[in-house]
Amino acid sequence: MRKIRVLSVFGTRPEAIKMCPLVLELQQREEIESLVCVTAQHREMLDGVLKSFGVTPDFDLNVMRPEQTLSALTSRVLEGLGAVFVKAQPDLVLVHGDTTTSFSAALAAFYERIIVGHVEAGLRTYDRYSPFPEELNRQLVGRLAALHFAPTAQNKANLEREGIKEGIFVTGNTVIDAMRYTVGDGSFSSPALRALDFENERHIVLTCHRRENYGAAMEQIFSAVRRLVDAYPDVRFVYPVHPSPAVQETASRMLGNVPRVELIEPLDTFEMHRLMSRCYMVMTDSGGIQEEAPALGKPVLVLRRETERPEAVKAGTVRLAGVETEKIVSLASALLEDKALYARMAQAVNPYGDGRASGRIADAICYMFGYTQTAPELFSPTGTASRPS
Ligand code: UD1
Ligand code: UDP
Repeated sequence: MRKIRVLSVFGTRPEAIKMCPLVLELQQREEIESLVCVTAQHREMLDGVLKSFGVTPDFDLNVMRPEQTLSALTSRVLEGLGAVFVKAQPDLVLVHGDTTTSFSAALAAFYERIIVGHVEAGLRTYDRYSPFPEELNRQLVGRLAALHFAPTAQNKANLEREGIKEGIFVTGNTVIDAMRYTVGDGSFSSPALRALDFENERHIVLTCHRRENYGAAMEQIFSAVRRLVDAYPDVRFVYPVHPSPAVQETASRMLGNVPRVELIEPLDTFEMHRLMSRCYMVMTDSGGIQEEAPALGKPVLVLRRETERPEAVKAGTVRLAGVETEKIVSLASALLEDKALYARMAQAVNPYGDGRASGRIADAICYMFGYTQTAPELFSPTGTASRPS
């Protein structure tokens, strides 16, 4: 039988972290010929992840421009993928999550009548401007895709409510697969991280880069950081600053010379996960970090008004802190002072996966293309395996 030609298309750091373990899995399957196209919506941040996981793309659209607009990015990806599809002749295009790369790649594939598979399907806030533009990107990819790899049962329920009845597989999130490669023994190679004093100081990992937080919200968040280091002399923030010029400007203006706030370059993902495994807590507006930190037993304050990842909020490790200085300071202070509260939140809970999502996705692809008769086992956070009827 001819192999199934699977073309994975991704372009940003978080997509790469979550797609590389899947690509490595697809490469192992004899029924599948795995090809990779990166759009390079991100350049340095993407390349770092590819190198860490040892994934070499077959195609590279190299679309990134400084301060790129969403429309220009969308059209560069759409135009670039036409020639790639002609060369690769894929049976299936896999896209991930909610980025401009995912949406434009799914649309480009649809225009060529190529089947689209959506990895990390079904996350929703139902607020089209938050996160912006990611919420609508993922809803649109949901419409374009025929196969939906939903990390959790709740993600599947969201898709079903929207009328999608077929092709949904609950797989767990591939980010937990990635952590099997990255966390290791927690040791660092970067001198900046080796210099941190984990014995005598409490470290808070901070990330903040989302478009809906640009401007006033980011300033409020950074004011909270200043208040917290003033109030707690044993607290040190470690903030790997996203290269986006909008983020760089606000971070250096408001936090550039603040004692015990380390503004550092984006970290290699292996180092980032190790830092998270050794920190006191995490404050973030990132999506992926909301999945990783609970798996490491670290409390998370989410610096956003909403989250499309309610599972860890329900489980008690994540709290929605919003973007106002007072509330952020008060929730962070509670975690720094109240040991019982800290202990309740610092439980390792893993509603997002068991490290076997990539295998389930590969199984589902083989099943849907008629190469195996057995439906893939589905992910359940309680560990009770089941198969779709
Ligand atoms: C994108 C995703 C967002 C994801 C984020 C992860 C969309 C709409 N948004 O947003 O969902 O959370 O990636 O970081 O797809 N830059 C560099 N080098 C890099 C990466 C970025 O210089 O390696 C700079 C460039 O100036 C670029 C800017 O950052 O123009 C913004 O990048 P872009 O991909 O447009 O947006 P993100 O905010 O990164
Ligand atoms: N990350 C990283 N280095 C950093 C900051 C983040 O490797 O300096 C990782 C982080 O562990 C997570 C992912 O990047 O896996 C999250 O990326 P980001 O916040 O940019 O995007 P989002 O998850 O919000 O889409």
